[in-house]
Amino acid sequence: MVRLAKLNPFKKPSASISKGHLAAVNTLQNGSKHLLAIEGLSAAEINKFLDLAERYVERNLATDKKHPILRGRTLINLFFENSTRTRTSFELAGKRMGADVINISVGASSVKKGETLIDTAQTINAMHPDFIVIRHAESGTAHMLAQHVNCSVINAGDGSHEHPTQALLDALTIRRAKGKIKGLKVAICGDILHSRVARSNIALLHTLGANVTIIAPPTLLPADAASLGVTITSNMREGIKDADIVMMLRLQMERMQGHFIPSIREYFHFWGLNREKLSLAAPDALVMHPGPINRGVEIDTDIADDLERSVILEQVEMGVAVRQAVLEILAQA
Ligand code: CP
Repeated sequence: MVRLAKLNPFKKPSASISKGHLAAVNTLQNGSKHLLAIEGLSAAEINKFLDLAERYVERNLATDKKHPILRGRTLINLFFENSTRTRTSFELAGKRMGADVINISVGASSVKKGETLIDTAQTINAMHPDFIVIRHAESGTAHMLAQHVNCSVINAGDGSHEHPTQALLDALTIRRAKGKIKGLKVAICGDILHSRVARSNIALLHTLGANVTIIAPPTLLPADAASLGVTITSNMREGIKDADIVMMLRLQMERMQGHFIPSIREYFHFWGLNREKLSLAAPDALVMHPGPINRGVEIDTDIADDLERSVILEQVEMGVAVRQAVLEILAQA
């Protein structure tokens, strides 16, 4: 059985949508209409996305999920990296809001004939889309794209830089479960070095007043870790102690050149989440993971499937609502 929002006992009352929430977009990313990063957003701007997303969580439980305020608009998903959750939820979000949604399959596009990213972007731009959702292996790609198109650009993950909608959906999941974010102890464990999810979450959680600890092997900690305003440790038992939230991350093998860990077996022994390590966290600690999960690598199957502790599928559910909120707010910019 999957524990989803309708069974969530911690559900907060719906936020009301008013013209006021749209003011946030005017200062988004220096006054533009894009969502490129969490870094630089204020607490008020983040909360406005979350408050509006609450409305969509309710709406997505109804039989009729349509709220066609984007009728006539076009959303293009331009994913240069694989995705299940992000691409599907942007597609669902757009369709539920009445937009026309196009998924560009990069493998079958003219990129394979040598077209540059900027040429691809300008080609798509000439068709007058309203939103381009981009995922790319290179950090900074979404920012670059935003300078070459007229429409709103949403960063769906750029290299190891940022994945802003993931951090928003994680925050919504936490807020609905715990009723707050400020003051919570959040332990983020795993491949911090290559993780755009970690970077966006650290920025968001810091802005909303959580206490963040990052836990990783020394080889998987970023060089600028000390400047991130977090507690840093390579000892998982120490880092996870009394945590309210344990956020596990996937080993990003596709971004690793060389050997960062001795072996998967040893990695799981020291940094994998199992029942014994989780017992050190707060008794009501929640387990999160952005997915895709690698069972037996960073998380034990037993924990991933424990619906009393794991909110991994609720994160997926929140992903649709958060992306609807992002589209609505950007559409009003
Ligand atoms: N969390 C996340 O970005 O998942 P996908 O790679 O499936 O989109």
